[in-house]
Amino acid sequence: MNTFLPTRMARRLRIPLSGGLLLVALFAVAWAADVAPPAPGLAREGQSLKAVCAQCHNLQIVMDTPMSYNAWHDTVQTMVDRGASGTDEQFDDIMDYLHRTMTTIDVNTAHADELEIVLNVPEAAAQAIIARRSMRKFNGLADLKSVPGVDASTVDAKARLIFFK
Ligand code: HEC
Repeated sequence: MNTFLPTRMARRLRIPLSGGLLLVALFAVAWAADVAPPAPGLAREGQSLKAVCAQCHNLQIVMDTPMSYNAWHDTVQTMVDRGASGTDEQFDDIMDYLHRTMTTIDVNTAHADELEIVLNVPEAAAQAIIARRSMRKFNGLADLKSVPGVDASTVDAKARLIFFK
């Protein structure tokens, strides 16, 4: 059995905030066309996803099931066990792609890195979220949008990924 290990730190990969809405628009178009969404800054990652993950089923099955990063890791491992093959680089790309576009997050417990990557916010905003929730938990999207540095349209675009437990 092969074990794949994502080696590249997701921390190094960040797309500009302004890409948020565009990303979602492209996502919708690409979804319909069953190709990996050519998200800004994620073109190569999307190609790797398409090359490796569309071998057995369409990509909609991937786009339909957002989950935590750990669950993605397990799912991709399951696919490897089922026969998915690709280079280490391609699997790194795929994990980056899933982390930044298809990973769920609990705003009230996530680590700073996770907030940065999944919500696509600058480090300062992630720290502001943590400072705020240490005083009072977040209770919804509007609440989250009130944090300086958090882009409201990005939050709306990622609404299905964001939870408040
Ligand atoms: C060797 C064939 C194969 C490849 C390549 C493959 N999968 Fe799958 N995948 C399956 C099978 C078989 C299922 C079961 C259900 C189905 O097709 O409806 C599945 C189902 C899924 C599901 C639905 C949940 C589940 O666990 O049943 C997700 C999500 C998924 N795959 C993601 C991926 C991702 C991400 C990749 C690329 C890393 C990938 N798959 C590559 C065979 C594959």
